[in-house]
Amino acid sequence: MSGAWSTGKPDYTALDLPAPPPDRPYVIANTVMSADGKSVIEGTEQGIGSAVDQRLMRELRVSADVVLNGAGTLRASGTSSRLGDVALEAIRVERGKARVPIAAVVSRGGDLPLERPFFTARDFPAVVYLSEAAPEGRRAAIEATGRPVVTLPEGHEFAGMLRHMRHELDADVLLVEGGPTVYAELYALDAIDEAFVTLGPVVVGGADTLTAVAGEAFTRATAKRLTLLSAHANPETDEVYLRYRVRR
Ligand SMILES: NC(=O)c1ccc[n+]([C@@H]2O[C@H](COP(=O)([O-])OP(=O)(O)OC[C@H]3O[C@@H](n4cnc5c(N)ncnc54)[C@H](OP(=O)(O)O)[C@@H]3O)[C@@H](O)[C@H]2O)c1
Repeated sequence: MSGAWSTGKPDYTALDLPAPPPDRPYVIANTVMSADGKSVIEGTEQGIGSAVDQRLMRELRVSADVVLNGAGTLRASGTSSRLGDVALEAIRVERGKARVPIAAVVSRGGDLPLERPFFTARDFPAVVYLSEAAPEGRRAAIEATGRPVVTLPEGHEFAGMLRHMRHELDADVLLVEGGPTVYAELYALDAIDEAFVTLGPVVVGGADTLTAVAGEAFTRATAKRLTLLSAHANPETDEVYLRYRVRR
C-alpha cells in the first residue's frame, strides 16, 4: 500500500504545493465533517474531530501564509493562526517563512467579537477584511483594537480580498478554515485549489444543520469535481483523512 493510500495519520507538514496563480494565493481548504456531512454540532465544530484532526489542522498551518475564517466562525468558536508547537514553527522558519501565519477574518457587517484573542492577542499577526458596506462606527471600533482593516468593494469582496493577500501580503498559500458560507463564496469564484476533509465517526442529523459547504447549490453542470490525492484511515480515531484537488 503506498503512502497516499494508507492507515494511520498523514503528514501534512510536507505538502508539495504548486506556485500560486497571478491574482490570488494557492488556496487550500480544511474541514472536519460528520459521517452525514454536517459541519457543526450544537452550534460549533467542536466535538466532530479528534485531537489528531486538530493536529492535522495545525500541520496545514505550516504551509500557510494566511489563515482565513469567516466572521461566523469567529463569533461561534474564535480563531487564531497559532501552531501551538515550536517544532511546527521551526519547520516554517527553516523554509524562510514567519514563525506563524497571518490570521484573517472576513466580514460584511463588521459585528465582530472584539474581546476575542483574535483582536487582543499579539503573538500572531491578524488582518480584518471588511466590506465597504459595513457601518463606519463598526469599522472604527475594529480599527481601535489595533488590527489593520482592509476595505473591500461591495459585491466583489472575496476577489478583492484574494488580490490583496497575493499582492499586498505577498501570500503564496492561503489556508481557509471555514466556515461553510466562506467555502461557498470561494467555490463559486472557483478559488479553491485543494480540499482537506476529515470524516468523523459521528452522525449529527438535522435538516437545518450546516453542511460542509453552504450557499447556493451547484447544478450537475457547475458542481465542483474533485480528484482524490490521498486517503488515510485511522483505526485509533475511526476518522478518515482525505485530500482532494479541485478539477479545472
Ligand atoms: N466543521 C468545520 O470544519 C468548521 C469549520 C469552520 C466553522 N465551522 C462552523 O461553522 C459555523 C460558521 O459558519 P458560517 O457559514 O455560519 O459562517 P462563516 O463562513 O464562518 O462566516 C460567514 C460570514 O462571512 C462574512 N461574509 C460572507 N460573505 C461575505 C462577503 N461577500 N463579503 C464580506 N463578508 C462576507 C459574513 O460576516 P458578517 O456576518 O460579519 O457580515 C458572514 O456572516 C460555526 O458554527 C462554526 O463552528 C465548522
